[in-house]
This record gives sequence, C-alpha cells and structure tokens, in this order.
Amino acid sequence: MLLSIQVLLSTAALIASGRCSSHTIPVPSFPKNSSPVPRDLQSISIEFAYFPDYAGNKSHPNKFSKNLLQNFKSITGVAPKVRVGGTSQDHAIYFPDQEENVKLFYRNPTDDQPIQINYGPTYFESYHTLGKIKYVHGLNMNQNYSTEQLELAATEACTSIGPQLHLFELGNEFNFAPGKYRAANYSLLDYAEEWNTKSAIIKSAVQKACPGSFPGFMAPSFVLLDFIVKTSWTAEELYNLGYDKDNLTKEMCFHNYMGVNSPPLPPAQLDLQRTLMNHTKIVQNLAAQIKRSENLAYLGLPYTLGELNSIANQGVNGETNVFSDALWLVDFSLWAAVHGIKRLHFHQGLNYRYASWQPIESKGISPTTRPPYYGQIMVASAIGKSKDTRIVSIPLSEDTESAYAIYNGNRLSELVITNMRAFNQTTSGHRPHREYQFRVPSQHKSARIDRLIGPGSDALDNITFGGISYDHALEEGKPVQRHSNEETRIKNGLLTIEVPDSSAVLITM
Ligand SMILES: *[C@@H]1O[C@H](CO)[C@@H](O)[C@H](O)[C@H]1NC(C)=O
Ligand SMILES: *[C@@H]1O[C@H](CO)[C@@H](O)[C@H](O)[C@H]1NC(C)=O
Ligand SMILES: *[C@@H]1O[C@H](CO)[C@@H](O)[C@H](O)[C@H]1NC(C)=O
Ligand SMILES: *[C@@H]1O[C@H](CO)[C@@H](O)[C@H](O)[C@H]1NC(C)=O
Ligand SMILES: *[C@@H]1O[C@H](CO)[C@@H](O)[C@H](O)[C@H]1NC(C)=O
Ligand SMILES: *[C@@H]1O[C@H](CO)[C@@H](O)[C@H](O)[C@H]1NC(C)=O
Ligand SMILES: *[C@@H]1O[C@H](CO)[C@@H](O)[C@H](O)[C@H]1NC(C)=O
Repeated sequence: MLLSIQVLLSTAALIASGRCSSHTIPVPSFPKNSSPVPRDLQSISIEFAYFPDYAGNKSHPNKFSKNLLQNFKSITGVAPKVRVGGTSQDHAIYFPDQEENVKLFYRNPTDDQPIQINYGPTYFESYHTLGKIKYVHGLNMNQNYSTEQLELAATEACTSIGPQLHLFELGNEFNFAPGKYRAANYSLLDYAEEWNTKSAIIKSAVQKACPGSFPGFMAPSFVLLDFIVKTSWTAEELYNLGYDKDNLTKEMCFHNYMGVNSPPLPPAQLDLQRTLMNHTKIVQNLAAQIKRSENLAYLGLPYTLGELNSIANQGVNGETNVFSDALWLVDFSLWAAVHGIKRLHFHQGLNYRYASWQPIESKGISPTTRPPYYGQIMVASAIGKSKDTRIVSIPLSEDTESAYAIYNGNRLSELVITNMRAFNQTTSGHRPHREYQFRVPSQHKSARIDRLIGPGSDALDNITFGGISYDHALEEGKPVQRHSNEETRIKNGLLTIEVPDSSAVLITM
C-alpha cells in the first residue's frame, strides 16, 4: 500500500514537470512476421464531382495539385494512386454530346455535394493534367435505366484514360442501397447478382473498345461500420453468395471513418482528443478491418481502404481541418500498414473539412495546403524509397502516444513517435513534452530528427514536417525549407528524445 502511494506521488511529480518516467524502451532487432509496405500506401481518393476542380483541364491544369502529388513521388519514388469516385459517382451520368466537362446540380447551393452530375468527354481531360498518375475510375451502379449508358461510360473511360487506368470501380458504398438506391428488400444476393451482371457488361464493352487485357475492378467498396450503418450485410457472406465468380476483382476495397458528422455533435475541441488523437481508439476502429482482411485472405487479393478519412460526412471544422487530424493520420496509417492494409486512399473534395488541400478558390477559401497533407508526407517519408520497408509497432502505455520501428529489410532504419496530447496554440507559457529513451542496436551512433509540428493541435496552418512547408502561398505546394533540422547522438545504443505535446517525430538512423 505504502509503495503504491509513493509511486503515485512520484508519478504526480513527473507529470507536473511535463515529463514521463524515462524507462528504456527496447526496440525489436528484427521486424518479425511483417510484410513489405507498398510505397504508395499514402494514396488519394477524389470525389467524382470535384475531380475537375482538383486536376484542372488541358488548358488550365491545376499545378498546385500536381506539385502536391509530385512531392510524394520525390519522397517514395512512386506517385500515389488516385481513385475518382465517392457518393457522387453513383449520381453521375455520362453524356457523349455534352460540351461542358461537368454540370453539377445542387438541392441547396450550400450543400457539400451535388445530387446530380452530368459529365461529357472533356471531363476526361482531367486525367492528363497531374503527371503519370494511375487512376481507379468510378462507374455508376445506381443508374438502372440503360445498360448502354454503362457501356458508354466505361468505354469512354478506357479510351480516354488509356494506360493510366489502373482499375474500375462499380458502385460506391452499395451496402446503403436498400431503401436508398433500391427497394428496401434488396438483398445481399440481389447486389451480388446485379454486380456480376453489370461487371460482365463492362468487361465485354471495354474489351471491344480497348483491346488488350481488361484492367479489372476494385470492389466491393462497402462501408461496414456500425456507427454509420446498421446492416446485416457482411463481406464474408457476400463472397459466399458467388459475388464476382469470374474473378474480375484485382483489389479488395472497403471504406473507413473514425466517426460521423451528424447531430448530436460533441464539441470539436473535445472530440479531437477523444476520437482522433487517441491510439486506443484507432486500434479499436481498425480492428474490424483487420479481422475482415484475415477472413478474406483466402481470396488472395490486396486489402485496401479505397476511401477513408477521419470523420464521415466531409469532416468537422475545428477537428478534422486542424493539426490534430495530421497526428491522427500518422498513427492510423502506420497501424494500418503494420497490419497488412496495402493502400489508403484519403478522400478529398472541394471545401471538405478533412481535405488535405483546397485546390482552387471556393466559398471564399483560397487554395491552401491543410494539416492532414503534412501527416501524409510524414508517413510517406517514413516508408521512403525502399521496396522492403517493414513496420513494427512498439507498445507504449498511454492512449495519447504511439511508437513504430521501421526497417529496411532486417535493418532498423527509423523510429516514429507520436505525442497526441492536445495542446492549444493559445495556451501561454511552456509547451509540455514527453521524453523517451529507446535502446537501439549499438552500431547506430547518430540520427537525424524530422518533426511534424505546428503551433498546436487546433492550428490551421504554419505546419511543417522536417522544417519544410508545402504551402500554396510559398511555392505553390513545392517544398520550402523553413527551419533547419536537428541531429542527435546515440550513446551506447541509447537514444533519448523529447517530443512536445501535439507533435510527432521521425528519427532516421
Ligand atoms: C477548363 O477549365 C477552365 C477553368 O476552370 C474553364 O473555364 C474551361 O471551361 C474548362 N474547359 C473545358 C473544356 O471544360
Ligand atoms: C420487394 O418489394 C417490392 C415492392 O417494393 C415487391 O414488389 C417485391 O415482390 C419484393 N420482393 C421480395 C423478394 O420480397
Ligand atoms: C437493375 O438492373 C439489374 C440488372 O442490370 C437488375 O438485376 C436489377 O433488378 C435492377 N434493379 C432495379 C431496381 O431495377
Ligand atoms: C476464380 O478463383 C477461384 C479461386 O481462386 C477459382 O476456384 C475459380 O475457378 C476462378 N474462377 C474463374 C472463372 O476463373
Ligand atoms: C481513447 O479512446 C478510448 C476508447 O474509446 C477511451 O476509453 C479513452 O477514454 C480515450 N482516451 C482519451 C484520452 O480520450
Ligand atoms: C482550447 O481552446 C479552445 C478555444 O480556442 C477552448 O474551447 C478549449 O477548451 C481549449 N482546450 C483545452 C484542452 O484547453
Ligand atoms: C504563421 O506564420 C505567419 C508568417 O509565416 C505569421 O505571420 C503568423 O503569425 C503565424 N501564425 C501562427 C499561429 O504562428
């Protein structure tokens, strides 16, 4: 009893001084049971309706978006993959005679998304403005008035996108279909049969128009999270019902969010700590995806999150558009990578509150790089150019911290540490930090330190990673070094590092 009181007292003293007890944390010497992490883990999804805003067109390419995507290629050696889809994909109709690239119809002008999207051949100019990007192109599964419409849309996509077409996607979150796109009694079997029929129609039309091997699909693009949709549909059951019996799917895809923007909303300032900057919550949230990927491993397909972001329904101001989201993104991405999820397509849309960047001026908001982009850049930097990057999680004790060891083959090359304790930028005085000491193989003598940091977890801007800003206002999204980098010495295999609250660090040995 006496002992525990002493422990409590000494813990209290340490917290008061802003320090953690610095017991030494061992780093595993080898990445046991891990598989290589794809270099395009950090990928992008763009709302179908807003793709022209992100990419521009032939006469007005969006250089800002191009620069931001190119930055990933400079860091990892490969460009992110871009999926063009989302809810608006299932409301998009192709009109071969339409001159305008896209016509958007809104129920209310202030809505986040249009209810109808009419697009024409010039829409596809946007696939050729961002460099050598590979695309997943979304087709409308909802429309049911003609198969000719589906064939036209698919053949225009294969001819216009050409070799940059990675895969097709047929339908978005069709687990919402009963009572929305279809009768309330539309069943999982109905879905499986409709998808099988329509995917076969697409395949044969595409093979006629674009001879060569058929690209295949990313599917089934369900969002199966009980706080978003109550449904008895499961992916395991879907595949038992003869879904995709012809094996046209090349990558499995599910969607993921941490919460949903619908009333009653908790205060953003509270939720950013409770839901986003919370390792325990991230582990719980991803558990269902990890379990599903294990259950479906027998299919032999890569498991991706083909659309994801922090809070569903385009995010929440003060929570997902601020620096807290970047720290969430780092921890979420690394935990997903450790557990074999192959690609993360972070969803984007014009004025979306979780977007990594605002591509054009809209609703009074200028083009700008948002905090989540910096989280994506940090994860890409941690993966780097190696084709044999492996990641292992190092357990820590608190909800608000996480650590990962990163290996090039069997050689420890980096550590990532996040300190996700909220820190308000308006707080005056000292910014608390945590101190860590890691035991690493003794051949390491020094390390380079790249920090992901901003004025606070509630900061909208002035974020840097490794001292670099990617802001629009500087060089239109190209890297600009703002602060110099740090180095640290490693003595006898002991590496000590201070990590300020609401920041993360990449240590390269
Ligand atoms: C290309 O983009 C510009 C600027 O947004 C626009 O004015 C023009 O109409 C677009 N061209 C086509 C063919 O849509
Ligand atoms: C589903 O509901 C529709 C009416 O919305 C009805 O016509 C149809 O028979 C029902 N199908 C089944 C299998 O119950
Ligand atoms: C939509 O079309 C598919 C076949 O293309 C058919 O199986 C399905 O019943 C149709 N659904 C509706 C609601 O018409
Ligand atoms: C699809 O894949 C499964 C499992 O790999 C295999 O048993 C089946 O024969 C394949 N079907 C076709 C049409 O290739
Ligand atoms: C983190 O999430 C877990 C699980 O929802 C919760 O029990 C815990 O209180 C949260 N931690 C913080 C700091 O909000
Ligand atoms: C941070 O500041 C906001 C006002 O900007 C305030 O509402 C909130 O309670 C503060 N949070 C903390 C953890 O101090
Ligand atoms: C952000 O940086 C700009 C200049 O680069 C400066 O004027 C502004 O005060 C900074 N804001 C914060 C919150 O640090």
